[in-house]
Amino acid sequence: MKTTSVSGATLAAASLFSSFAAAVQPLTVQGSNFITGSSKNRFSIVGVDYQPGGSSGVSDTSDPLSDGDACLRDAILMQRLGVNTIRVYNLIADLNHDECASVFNAAGIYMLLDVNNGNYGSYIDRTAPWTTYTSDYLTHVFSIIEAFAPYPNLLGFFSGNEIINEESARMAPAYIRAVTRDMKDYIAKNVDREIGVGYSAADVASSLSDTWEYLGCELSNSTSSKIDFFGLNDYEWCGDSTFEQSGYNKLVDQFGNTSIPVFFSEYGCNLVKPRTFTNVPVLYGEEMSVMSGGLVYEYTQGENDYGLVNITSADEVHLREDYNYLATQYAKLDENLLTSANSTATGRKAPACDPSLITESTFYNSWNLPARPDGVDDMINNGLSKPNQGKTVSVTNTAMPATVYDYNGQQINDLELTVLDEQDSNRPGLAGNYTPSTPTGTASATGSQSSSTGGSSSASRTSSGSATATGSQAAATSSGAASSMVVSSGAATFGAFLASLLFL
Ligand SMILES: *[C@@H]1O[C@H](CO)[C@@H](O)[C@H](O)[C@H]1NC(C)=O
Ligand SMILES: *[C@@H]1O[C@H](CO)[C@@H](O)[C@H](O)[C@H]1NC(C)=O
Ligand SMILES: *[C@@H]1O[C@H](CO)[C@@H](O)[C@H](O)[C@H]1NC(C)=O
Ligand SMILES: *[C@@H]1O[C@H](CO)[C@@H](O)[C@H](O)[C@H]1NC(C)=O
Repeated sequence: MKTTSVSGATLAAASLFSSFAAAVQPLTVQGSNFITGSSKNRFSIVGVDYQPGGSSGVSDTSDPLSDGDACLRDAILMQRLGVNTIRVYNLIADLNHDECASVFNAAGIYMLLDVNNGNYGSYIDRTAPWTTYTSDYLTHVFSIIEAFAPYPNLLGFFSGNEIINEESARMAPAYIRAVTRDMKDYIAKNVDREIGVGYSAADVASSLSDTWEYLGCELSNSTSSKIDFFGLNDYEWCGDSTFEQSGYNKLVDQFGNTSIPVFFSEYGCNLVKPRTFTNVPVLYGEEMSVMSGGLVYEYTQGENDYGLVNITSADEVHLREDYNYLATQYAKLDENLLTSANSTATGRKAPACDPSLITESTFYNSWNLPARPDGVDDMINNGLSKPNQGKTVSVTNTAMPATVYDYNGQQINDLELTVLDEQDSNRPGLAGNYTPSTPTGTASATGSQSSSTGGSSSASRTSSGSATATGSQAAATSSGAASSMVVSSGAATFGAFLASLLFL
């Protein structure tokens, strides 16, 4: 990982200093929890799936993170809702994503991104994965990594979405591990911080456990092929239900020992309408604390009728009743519960891969992974030549660029983006009533500190953790005047934090 070198840390600090944009803290994975940069709080995903223009990710080929005004419009409405994460299904590496990524960053919203899209050559064909696992395909995947890795609010990538289902070839799981391996090796060689790579599983009960076990186990001859987190698309709670009736209790039994974060990468059954989201307090409650939250499918109303908002033109949006119901449920969440780290969970270690983990006889149970296509080792060792790389830009325009109506037809005025300080990600109720948690002026300095801390804490997942962490810390401290400011302002902020505790 590059942050372990002096030059890596210096570069990271320098690039943050040159930008005045606020930035959320990079997240890392520790055991089965997501952890927030320097605070060491747990992070729970309060998310929505974001693919305006299409009703299903795979059939739609537009890139929602390439239109700055649309992103500003949607980020304002998501921030007001209480969302801290979006998932985006279709991205095109060559487009400019700076405005969108920066707007979501300023809103305190992380991005969870699928590297595959619906264009031929940009996905793995589940029925014949060997025909699509090519160097051109991996060039596409690495281009997406290059395009989004520079944004601090990138939460992670999905190496695959619903590849395993009733139609998939028996060997498909091995290809998912191979793509995960290639992505993680590319990131380790070419990106200055660790970025998680996970998989999003279809709502197929019979293969769920096997998929999670197969992809999440430790493989000693290919450690990078293990996924860092597991998303499942889950539509089992419809209308008013309960922990037991919905089947959520079975998920807790099934994933109770998970060694990686597990969350709903899609949820929100629409068989009962409007959707009142009575599952939300349960999903984020004590009974389900093993899970790291979830993402509601989906932000935008389309033909399949799952939308929270109806975008009738670029500058007109109608909130649906579901949006209000979801906001009401989000408002009940217990922030303390969601942010408490749990040492049992963060200390979890993955089991070794072994055929005994797999329960269904039809599920692939060998970890003999496909070799890389020719030329891919070179790409990983040297990086792509001249990739399109994103960079955070400052967000000055915060006014709502569209007319917004509540579900009863009433126009909603005075909507605006609240630019959050980098200590904060968004949460329900935050934006309406916001005071920055750090004093003005220390903002970018604290940010650089958290970025180096983020790097070292993620390294501590690997067994060489403490040595790497110390090295990275030392590098930051010795990299000149700018970095020592970083350290001292961090200490001041922490001092203020302690003082505030003592006066309680
Ligand atoms: C969780 O781990 C414990 C201890 O290793 C074991 O007894 C239990 O069966 C496991 N539970 C599941 C659901 O795998
Ligand atoms: C800590 O995490 C473990 C594993 O997820 C869970 O079984 C336990 O209930 C958690 N403890 C608390 C206090 O949340
Ligand atoms: C969304 O808006 C379009 C265009 O005005 C309208 O035809 C459609 O019925 C609306 N859908 C919902 C679910 O409100
Ligand atoms: C790696 O280990 C797995 C599981 O033991 C094995 O099936 C596979 O052949 C090994 N791969 C290599 C390249 O040695």
